[in-house]
Amino acid sequence: MHKQNRKAFIKKMGRGGVAIFASAPPAQWNHDTEYLYRPDPNFYYLTGFEEPESICVIAPEHPKHQYILFVRPKDKQAEIWNGKRVGVKDARKHYGADKVYPIEKFSEKIGKYLQDAKRLYYTLGSNEIIDTEILSLFTQSVRSRIRSGKGFDTLVDPSPILSELRLIKNETELQRIRQATEITVAGHVAAMKAVRPGLYEYQLESLVESTFRMNGAGGAAYPTIVASGGNATTLHYTTNDCEIEDGNLVLLDAGAEYGRYSGDVTRTFPASGTFTEAQREVYQLVLDAHKTIIDGIRPGVSIDEPHQKSIELLTEGMLSLGLLKKKKKIEKLIEDGAYRQFYMYRIGHMLGLDVHDVNCVREANGDYKTFQPGMVITIEPGLYVAEGTKGVPPQYLGIGVRIEDDILVTESGNENLTSGVPKEIDEVEALVRGAK
Ligand code: GLY
Ligand code: MN
Ligand code: MN
Repeated sequence: MHKQNRKAFIKKMGRGGVAIFASAPPAQWNHDTEYLYRPDPNFYYLTGFEEPESICVIAPEHPKHQYILFVRPKDKQAEIWNGKRVGVKDARKHYGADKVYPIEKFSEKIGKYLQDAKRLYYTLGSNEIIDTEILSLFTQSVRSRIRSGKGFDTLVDPSPILSELRLIKNETELQRIRQATEITVAGHVAAMKAVRPGLYEYQLESLVESTFRMNGAGGAAYPTIVASGGNATTLHYTTNDCEIEDGNLVLLDAGAEYGRYSGDVTRTFPASGTFTEAQREVYQLVLDAHKTIIDGIRPGVSIDEPHQKSIELLTEGMLSLGLLKKKKKIEKLIEDGAYRQFYMYRIGHMLGLDVHDVNCVREANGDYKTFQPGMVITIEPGLYVAEGTKGVPPQYLGIGVRIEDDILVTESGNENLTSGVPKEIDEVEALVRGAK
């Protein structure tokens, strides 16, 4: 897959370009301990290489080496402490590079790959140490250009090209997303079976994330949200430290990561197995919107359409519940953004190597692009009535409902990759009650 990705990238680079991609620096957790390493998505997309302190150079017009890697060399002592390294020899063998150097050789070797370049592609900000090297190379090149007429004089950010490519998933990416979403489904089903009043939110978090790992996921794709009762009205609630009470709804937003690709699902369910009347009204409204919006997704439809539809359906719903008052025409309420008090984000986002994946959803003229087969988008309408909100029917206070699925755009329409987690009211109630 990575070779195919590099080929597609080279096609978009144009003549005279050389690209450099730096791996992400490790992030410190505490003192001398680091967070589990996660490669930079663009770097990973092009190389598949997962070690820090590595650099990828793409030089399509170089006579011998079009794809060069700089990696950490083997080091017995370091490997005893921190695990095996791929090393120079195996990086060439397993990652398809035409030439591999130890990372220390970068400053010495990079010059020869840049000598005929006109443009250098590099994303400033991707790695502070490499940023400094690149700026210094740029200054040298501009100076030597004045003298010799040779050397690149333009620094271009390659991210827009990568974003375009990553927007449409290839077969390997889709296999991984399918796996990530399948595992995500298993985590949600396990949580719905286990939930009961008296559990703590973190206990559900633990169950969901252990289900992810037990099924082969690398872990959670983002911090798991287990929000009971009024906590569900905080969109990215992650403290997960409250006791789940009888009568609470539980909003669970969790996704597994598999092969570096993410799932992202939300379900909202009653801890006791039965929705109260007010909870049911809000839930049914969000569910109906969710299903109608997904039905409308197919190639050729504007990427903005689901959001506009969500505003219309949820505003109508807010009027029917009495959250908004019918003092104005619905068109005017929408124009004024009255819905934002209870629905405050866009309907969804692309999904892939990043959970909030590449967001190049507009054409150069500013118009929204249309859906194309191979795009994967989340659809996650919600209604959130925070405690203490003035002027709303009191029975809805403290209710937050979000329903989120992962949708693959296909030639003929779409495929819901996460439909395996129940969402119809009777199915949800049956699942929550079933195993008790
Ligand atoms: N889990 C974050 C989101 O749904 O966008
Ligand atoms: Mn989510
Ligand atoms: Mn999402």
